[in-house]
Amino acid sequence: MSKAGRLVVLVSGSGTNLQALLDASADPSYGARVVAVGADRDGIEGLARAERAQVPTFVEKLGDYATREEWDRAIAARIAAYEPDLVVSAGFMKILGAPTLDAFPVLNTHPALLPSFPGAHGVRDALAYGVKITGCTVMLADEGVDTGPIVAQAAVPVLPGDDEAVLHERIKQVERRLLVETVGRMAREGWTVSGRMVRIGNHTGGETT
Ligand code: GRF
Repeated sequence: MSKAGRLVVLVSGSGTNLQALLDASADPSYGARVVAVGADRDGIEGLARAERAQVPTFVEKLGDYATREEWDRAIAARIAAYEPDLVVSAGFMKILGAPTLDAFPVLNTHPALLPSFPGAHGVRDALAYGVKITGCTVMLADEGVDTGPIVAQAAVPVLPGDDEAVLHERIKQVERRLLVETVGRMAREGWTVSGRMVRIGNHTGGETT
């Protein structure tokens, strides 16, 4: 049974999911708190949000390293320095490698109902396909693109006249709540993974990670 009290959150952009976690963790009964925020680029609102909350930040840019493997090791070391129980990739636009994935459980959030529409353009792809229901998925990360075991999902309607920005904003309102609720439950109740099955709470049986 794993628990998730100390969170390192990784961001690449506006950081509204991070903000939702920062706001939730202001209440000690939430059970988890953000101990550091990492990014793969400078000058983003996600880092500014962390600084305003007086949470330490770090930046590791892929372009500063000769190889992906070196970047993988560097970001894993920066994360490890904060001894997280759970790493949350919240709009972080990089796939994490083995040095991070082997050391920590990593939670990822995606703005579509996986396994439909994985990748960097999940909202655009769902809209282009013409689906009437889409949503968001919180999953444990593995080395694939949005292929890890699913922890939680929520549905969001696609409405006539939606463009990518409008639909993404509607999804993000649901996504923030789902992420906050899922991280909080994982922190307070623990979780187990058996194959692709993730269970939050104190269940008997199954493989424990
Ligand atoms: C989220 O919808 C996330 O799933 C996607 O990018 C968005 C990030 O939003 N990959 P924010 O930076 O948390 O505001």
